[in-house]
Amino acid sequence: MKTIEWFDGKVRYIDQTKLPLEEIFIETNDYRVMAADIKQLVIRGAPCIGVAAGFAVALGALEIQERERPRFLARLEEVAGEIKSTRPTAVNLFWGVERVMEVARVGVGVDQIKRSALAEAKRMAAEDEDICRRIGAHGSELIQDGFNILTHCNAGALACVDYGTALGVIRAAHEQGKKIHVFVDETRPLLQGARLTAFELTKAGIPMTLITDNMAGHIMRTRKVNCVVVGADRIAANGDTTNKIGTYSVSILAKEHGIPFYVAAPTSTIDLKIAKGDDIVIEERKEDEVTTIQGKRVAPFGVKVANPAFDFAPSKYVSAIITEHGVVRPPFEQGLRSVVSTANQAIRQARQSG
Ligand code: MRU
Repeated sequence: MKTIEWFDGKVRYIDQTKLPLEEIFIETNDYRVMAADIKQLVIRGAPCIGVAAGFAVALGALEIQERERPRFLARLEEVAGEIKSTRPTAVNLFWGVERVMEVARVGVGVDQIKRSALAEAKRMAAEDEDICRRIGAHGSELIQDGFNILTHCNAGALACVDYGTALGVIRAAHEQGKKIHVFVDETRPLLQGARLTAFELTKAGIPMTLITDNMAGHIMRTRKVNCVVVGADRIAANGDTTNKIGTYSVSILAKEHGIPFYVAAPTSTIDLKIAKGDDIVIEERKEDEVTTIQGKRVAPFGVKVANPAFDFAPSKYVSAIITEHGVVRPPFEQGLRSVVSTANQAIRQARQSG
């Protein structure tokens, strides 16, 4: 089951807001529907958002009626802008839009641009699963038989096209026959851990224990946690890693308890234009995500609320960043530049060979 794919002339994706109780798929050829669904977290998780953004631009291109190339491209730039405005933090959104826009901008005629935009989006979707499996293969070398692993949020198949990044590492270790166990932070406010990671691990038959976010420190102090593995939404050039709110606390807890803190992410999540975590825009979401749980009010009316959706693990707390092109260790800057350059070369080659 793919989280998102091109299916019968439309984009098809699972509605992540309904999981784990209902498995509902949405099919659309309207980029506006996809943009709204990215905003509402129907589509979520950085790599999945990146692929969705690519498909959304391609749908926009297919829909534009304009026959004159400059006008067509001007309208497509507007579509790209609309898609980029949905969420600010995960760089994969911007990366996904730009990958398709790059091929569109060099297209010779409108029909050719439409074809190449869709081809590029499909290529991104196909690459994503392979990338996750390679992250899994590299990362599983850090996981030993008998390990207890703690994860935060959902960096699984649902956050990608399939397989996952942090959960890709965990899946690969499990597939190698290592007996592992995962502590899953529930991840308030939107419960991506309880709803999505628990759903995926249970389906895969990987032993796990669900905990609330405020239990992580106690679990690290009183039980054996061998490592933390999380995904990422944007990694700055110095290795500061933005991920779901709560990741900062987990990174400090891991440091305090001498537990390695690993980040598993595709190179598309690395943003070399951003020097450090403090420069990353943190999405602030609506108050009702905090004052309610699954639609049920839990806080008094009129209470003041903060709802930052992300924070960052400072690079000094990050033990390694696991990418599809290998494991990068501190100091991160040079290693991150090298894996990004390898990835960009691979994209150019893939485009050339069609
Ligand atoms: O708000 P979300 O659910 O899109 O946030 C997702 C996360 O923070 C994930 O951990 C991150 O995107 C990595 S997914 C491989």
